[in-house]
Amino acid sequence: MSFNHELTPHEIVSELDRYIIGQHEAKKSVAIALRNRWRRLNAIVEMREEIMPNNIIMIGPTGVGKTEIARRLAKLSGAPFIKVEATKFTEVGYVGRDVDSMIRDLMDIAINMIREEHTASVQERAKDLAEERILDLLIPPATPATPAPVSTPFSGAQPSFGMPAAAPIPPIATSEDDALRTRTRDKFRDKLRKGDLDDREVEVDVASDQSPMLQVFGPMGMEEMGVNIQDLFGNMGGQKKKKKRRLPVKEARDILAQEEAAKLIDMDKVTKQALERVQQAGIVFIDEIDKVASRGGGGKSGPDVSREGVQRDLLPIVEGSGVMTKYGMVKTDHILFIASGAFHVSKPSDLIPELQGRFPIRVELHSLTENDFFKILTVPKNALLKQYEALLLSEGVKVEFTEDAVKEVARMAAKVNEEVENIGARRLHTILTTLLEDVLFDVPDAFREDQLVVDKSMVLSKLSAVVQNRDLSQYIL
Ligand SMILES: Nc1ncnc2c1ncn2[C@@H]1O[C@H](COP(=O)(O)OP(=O)(O)OP(=O)(O)O)[C@@H](O)[C@H]1O
Ligand SMILES: [Mg+2]
Repeated sequence: MSFNHELTPHEIVSELDRYIIGQHEAKKSVAIALRNRWRRLNAIVEMREEIMPNNIIMIGPTGVGKTEIARRLAKLSGAPFIKVEATKFTEVGYVGRDVDSMIRDLMDIAINMIREEHTASVQERAKDLAEERILDLLIPPATPATPAPVSTPFSGAQPSFGMPAAAPIPPIATSEDDALRTRTRDKFRDKLRKGDLDDREVEVDVASDQSPMLQVFGPMGMEEMGVNIQDLFGNMGGQKKKKKRRLPVKEARDILAQEEAAKLIDMDKVTKQALERVQQAGIVFIDEIDKVASRGGGGKSGPDVSREGVQRDLLPIVEGSGVMTKYGMVKTDHILFIASGAFHVSKPSDLIPELQGRFPIRVELHSLTENDFFKILTVPKNALLKQYEALLLSEGVKVEFTEDAVKEVARMAAKVNEEVENIGARRLHTILTTLLEDVLFDVPDAFREDQLVVDKSMVLSKLSAVVQNRDLSQYIL
């Protein structure tokens, strides 16, 4: 997917609607934030730096779509996206260790993203070049290529002073030979394209995987600087190690195409674009921000200090600063930060004031209802039921879920969430796996029909017992 900077807020929301049920306020907020970044970049120069970024805190119980909204937002805008857990940066003995790493990781993600885009655009050409290389291997050129050793313009006229005569000059290829070779090559190319030669073996030079010996962990701190030991070693020889391997044409073609694509791509350009994409469109999703909010403020003990340390370390990045990566300095001014947390115990106001100020937009996500569950099961493009239908169809079984069956599943999900623990839409996963376990196990060995109707009575017979029994459902659902 390519980069789409210019979606309007309405367009963003309607795109999100295709995957996420409800949570309209949250969708609206992220849509505004995304568009505001674009607006800021296009504002008059004098104001541009004055406009504060619209970072967001999403507040809501588990499994109601917080991560999903951010992930989809990134996807539909083609933005580099990273999700980190705020708690990752608190560790006993360290105070907010290496928060910068998230920007470095984001940069890596962007590099891959842009490299893939470029690869896609040179794919055709790379395939052609790989084909030619395979043809070279199948019909080696008639070896006249080596030039005569001495080749000054006058060498023919010079006496040889008793030196041994130069190697005999190979016969010059006639145009007839050429024509013949071209014809053979064309014939082989045809066969190659038809797949007739797929199983033939050829010997190719492939860049060997980096030897496992080099996969050592660098001394502490190297990673922090964004220096990769493997890169250091890998570049020592100037070139990647090559290894000869015999492969069927089919595999060789893919490997050579990849190699050719890599050669066609201008990595400097990739790096430059990736930097730009991160700086202007990057989205950082900081999960579990509530876990680094400390309550009370007084009596600072160990964990509190460490948590506050994380918040303090986050400040400059969220506010806008430069982070050094191996691809260059990344300015974080326009990166969109979305923080998220359940905030059961702590409140956003327990975050240090400076950080609160950097996340001016608060939005609450709601607990999901039975009705939401029904829609989540059926409506989104990637709805769970559609996923199971596709899984079983791959075995030739067409499943149909009747409406009252789906309603029953939704009702049970809501009930278990209420009685045992509210894990939001994730409950649907556990319920469906329990419901369909036998079918998934029996196809194709014991269940040989090509149709299966899941109706309400099947749902009841598979699940009632478990749902009724609180102890059982605690473990199973
Ligand atoms: N409103 C929704 N519409 C559609 N699918 C949803 C919705 N809410 C959750 N889901 C599905 O439930 C799963 C969990 O959702 P998600 O990861 O967004 O939870 P979360 O709110 O980030 O929870 P946590 O606080 O535990 O991180 C995902 O597979 C997602 O597709
Ligand atoms: Mg989440």
